[in-house]
Amino acid sequence: MNKAPIVLAVDTPSLETAIEWVKATQDHVSVFKLGLEFFLTFGAEGVKAIQGVTDSDIFLDLKLHDIPHTVSGAAKAVAHMAPKFLTVHASGGGAMVKAAVDALPSTKVTGVTILTSLSEADVSEIGFASAALQSAVNLAKIAVSAGAGAIVCSPLEISAMRQQVGTSPIIITPGVRPLDMVGTDDQQRTMTPKAAINAGANLVVIGRPITQSWTQGAQAMKERAQEIGADLI
Ligand code: C5P
Repeated sequence: MNKAPIVLAVDTPSLETAIEWVKATQDHVSVFKLGLEFFLTFGAEGVKAIQGVTDSDIFLDLKLHDIPHTVSGAAKAVAHMAPKFLTVHASGGGAMVKAAVDALPSTKVTGVTILTSLSEADVSEIGFASAALQSAVNLAKIAVSAGAGAIVCSPLEISAMRQQVGTSPIIITPGVRPLDMVGTDDQQRTMTPKAAINAGANLVVIGRPITQSWTQGAQAMKERAQEIGADLI
């Protein structure tokens, strides 16, 4: 089965539901994203429960940000789960990113740049010297130079990122919406999954456009993942 370059955001407070979502979609989804809420609630046991029902990869979205020694320890603590991706804040600096990379040679340490929840005014208030796009590109370059194998950025930043970091880092973008869902929820500056891939992303993070179909049952959710994925393969 050809899995699409989709990272499914498994955003649910129920482990049982998470497992059912993974079972329903895993033929069409390459990577499952487990976030901080999931990890703090269900821990390594929860991650292993997900891995028990799929051979797709795990994206552990913990957004680590601390001194290098502490991040190294945290990264080593998740090594036994063998996540394909682990996020760290690039603003922790190159030494911190490298500490995670050294601790997890088989994982793609993934640099988060500027949170898209921050406005230009927020970015300026925090003290970044450049506007959000340029600051994000700078942070991506720091992360990649320190050994990060992937970066997360908004769809609108993909082209600039790709030009600056070259072809090898994996670019992962949330904030994508299939055409039939544009403007129906809180994601504002969106692109379609296909446009994001065409702009240079390797993987698109998709949550609700797929998970909302769970209310119609497992088969409907599977078909939705297949439909969105078919456009990307
Ligand atoms: O449901 P939806 O498709 O909006 O889910 C997108 C996922 O990507 C969520 O887990 C959300 O937290 C995450 N995300 C995002 N925008 C960012 C960074 C992460 O939507 N800038």
